[in-house]
This record gives sequence, C-alpha cells and structure tokens, in this order.
Amino acid sequence: MAMLEVENLNVRFYTEEGVVKATNDVSYEIESGECFGIVGESGAGKSVTSLALMRLIDDPGVIESGEIRFKGRNLLELDHEEMRRIRGNEIAIVFQDAQTALNPAYTVGSQIAEAVQLHLGRDDKAARDRSIELLDSVGIPDAAERYSDYPHEFSGGMQQRAVIAMALSCDPDLLVADEPTTALDVTIEAQILELLEEISRERDTAVQLITHDLGVIAEFCDRVMVLYAGHPVEVGPVEELYYEPKHPYTVGLMSSIPRIGDGRERLDTIPGRMPDLIEMPPGCNFHPRCPYAEEACARIEPRLVDAETGAEADVSEHARQAAACLAYTGELDGELDYEVRVRETADTIASEDTADSEGDRSTSDGEDGGQSR
Ligand SMILES: Nc1ncnc2c1ncn2[C@@H]1O[C@H](COP(=O)(O)OP(=O)(O)OP(=O)(O)O)[C@@H](O)[C@H]1O
Ligand code: SF4
Ligand SMILES: [Mg+2]
Repeated sequence: MAMLEVENLNVRFYTEEGVVKATNDVSYEIESGECFGIVGESGAGKSVTSLALMRLIDDPGVIESGEIRFKGRNLLELDHEEMRRIRGNEIAIVFQDAQTALNPAYTVGSQIAEAVQLHLGRDDKAARDRSIELLDSVGIPDAAERYSDYPHEFSGGMQQRAVIAMALSCDPDLLVADEPTTALDVTIEAQILELLEEISRERDTAVQLITHDLGVIAEFCDRVMVLYAGHPVEVGPVEELYYEPKHPYTVGLMSSIPRIGDGRERLDTIPGRMPDLIEMPPGCNFHPRCPYAEEACARIEPRLVDAETGAEADVSEHARQAAACLAYTGELDGELDYEVRVRETADTIASEDTADSEGDRSTSDGEDGGQSR
C-alpha cells in the first residue's frame, strides 16, 4: 500500500458560467520518501489536485467523487477535527508565494514558533529553540539572530526557506510544494529545489512537487504525472518519460524547456490554448492542438493505458509508463512520429544509442527521422 493513493479524483466548481471540470479521474500514488512531480500548463488542475488532497477546496468547488487514501485512511471520510490533525501533523503544503504565507506584522521566528506550538505543543522556550533549529536546517545563516527579523528583512529566497521551515515544523510525512520557486530567480530556484531534495532524502519525507517546468521535474522527481485540462495524460518514471515521452502533449511540453546553449529564451511552445474546462472538446481534449489528431480523436475519449500493452494503467510506484492517447489502444490509424533527441552539448545532437547518457536533452517534432517512439 502506497502512503498516498488518489483514485479517480473529480473536482468541480459550480460557477455562474457553468460547471468547471477541474480534475477528471485523476489517479496517482506516492510512496514514502518519494518525490512525485505534477506538471502541466496554467489551469491544468495542479493546484486543485493539491488543495483537494488537503481538503481545502472551497465554495463553489466540491470534491464530487473519488478517494484520497493517506496511510490507508480515506481523507474524504474524516471529520474536520481529524482532517485538521492530518494537515497539521502529517501533510504540509508550501505555496508559490512566500510573501503571502508570512504575516508582515510578525517576526519570521515567532511565526514558525507559533506553528511549532500548534503542532507539537511545546512551551515558548522550546518552540523558540526548535524554530531556530528549523531555520538553520533550511539554510538561514545566523538563524538565532535572524529569528527576530520581520519578513521584509528576508530576501525572496530566504522567505521561501522560512515558509519551508514552517511546513517542516510538524515533521510531515508528505510535503506538497506548489510551484515553490516560480517567484524566484534561477539560482535561488536551484537552491530551494536542492533544499527540498535534501529534506526528502534526510527526513524520508515524500514530496509532491508541482510545476509547469518539466526540466525541474526531470532533475528532482522520481515519477511524474502530466496533467492536461484536468486529465492525467501521462504518468511514469521520470527517466522514461523524459527520454521517451509517450503523449504528444508531453512532447510539446518538453519542446518548451529552455536549453543551455540554445541561445533562445524558450523553444516553441505548444500552439493553441488549453480548452475551456466548462465546455471541453469531445473525445481527446487535446485534439484541437495535437499534430497527430485524426477524426477518431474528436470522437473517442482515450483511456490512460500502459503504453506498451494497451492494458488499463496502473499508477503505482512500480508501474510502467502510461499514456492517454488512442495510439496505444489501436484506435489511431497513423503513428506518432515525433523524434526524441538527446543533446550532449550545445552543438552535438546525440543519436539513439546515447539516449541514456548524461547531458542536455531535447525533444522535437522531427521531420528528419531519428529516434521515433
Ligand atoms: N474557486 C474557483 N472557482 C472556479 N474555478 C476555479 C476555482 N479554482 C480553480 N478553478 C479552475 O480550476 C482549473 C484548475 O485550476 P488550478 O488552479 O488547479 O490550475 P493550475 O494547474 O494550478 O494552474 P497554475 O499553473 O496557473 O497555477 C482552472 O480552470 C481554474 O480556473
Ligand atoms: S488521442 Fe489523438 S488527439 Fe489525443 S493525443 Fe492521441 S493522437 Fe493526439
Ligand atoms: Mg496552481
């Protein structure tokens, strides 16, 4: 049994414009100590998935159906008090914007101490000591002195470290990090991600890392789920998905990862936009943007299946790569003839036999042959 098992999660927002289908049969599992990535464009349902996990979906939103089992208990059946205890002690969340997570009117240290007292019930002195320890453990220099600083006296990166310290105050088994680095520059981003990795390794804390950047996932996660319009379109071990993406949307996401030495800020992004989640296109929701779409794609909704066998997908830790595309259920006439290339340096593009070596990697819609799926 995995520590977290999410099964067929369906979240809806009942708005005046209509029903927003924010997550659609989202299923995934996270093992203890594992780093699991969730990636997708803006509006894909990444935050809603995390909020649902914490049971923090507010009006007009509802968790319409599905199960969220944490250490075997269905979180959707717990009463408010039990859920509050889980949130406080076992699952913690770090949001994108550290500034809003910290109250500008109180010192950073006192806010962490308050969290420590709340979760662990320590006295003032012990809570203060523990807070300093936590600040130190997330890399705040001179933690004892910085304890009394106000949030505005911390840089953006330090604020995010402080928020992570606060999340760690309850020593959670699962840390949900929702775009924890988007407000930071790249150097600080790398440091924060390294910190999360270190936390995961040293404390055996599982991390659910949410980002729109597949490059970040590739570096830090063990497994990943790609969301498109609230649907999981690909799930699998990061290495496999990164070197051999199975879903055309994943291929598109990879093309938009900036490469060192490319001389471009960002490569081509996927043309078109995500559909309106109130009125989604029929069949495969991705078909209006998919270069391989055929008539059947607008008619048949693809199921998430094992990309090798076409059998119903398993989303557990040891499962193989799964994708939701008609190409894997024999319902597509043509082939997904994209090319996956591994780039060793800025100007060398490696061939298939170096596909598992270290280095910069690139994916493109190939016209010139190369390694097809
Ligand atoms: N309170 C709400 N009322 C109505 N719709 C909502 C509400 N919260 C979220 N949604 C909708 O649910 C969908 C998924 O939103 P979500 O915040 O999960 O996206 P995301 O993948 O986290 O995007 P981003 O990368 O921009 O953070 C969006 O279409 C959003 O408009
Ligand atoms: S089912 Fe069709 S439209 Fe959807 S990803 Fe596969 S080829 Fe593209
Ligand atoms: Mg979000």
